[in-house]
Amino acid sequence: MEKINWTDKFNIGHPEIDRQHRQLIEMLNRLTGTPDVTTSSETVSDILHNMTQYAQIHFRTEENLLKTVEYPDLKAHKKEHLAYRKKIVDLCKHTMLGFHDVPEELLRYLHDWWSDHILVEDMKYRDFLQS
Ligand SMILES: [Fe+2]
Repeated sequence: MEKINWTDKFNIGHPEIDRQHRQLIEMLNRLTGTPDVTTSSETVSDILHNMTQYAQIHFRTEENLLKTVEYPDLKAHKKEHLAYRKKIVDLCKHTMLGFHDVPEELLRYLHDWWSDHILVEDMKYRDFLQS
């Protein structure tokens, strides 16, 4: 799968959020860049596990920040995070239960979700934060 190249277009302009986003994209690239991605590989389960944990920390940071600045669309934004969590739990469960290989569907979802979320949903609060 194609890697996500971090460029300026991903920057929200908040150092902590940008650092976390960058870290998440790095983890994702490591995951999709691992040849023969199998759930039995320690690297893969480590990355998946760490990425899930890190995503939780990141969502908390972001939601707290948006709450502090009284971002008007926080509710909708939280919904996006929740949908991600649910989908990941679902996909990971299926992956761990039934397959030796990490399904393309899981990798694709992670890949598309993070790039779309940062570039579309997170960008919506960028101007708000800067004002
Ligand atoms: Fe977000």
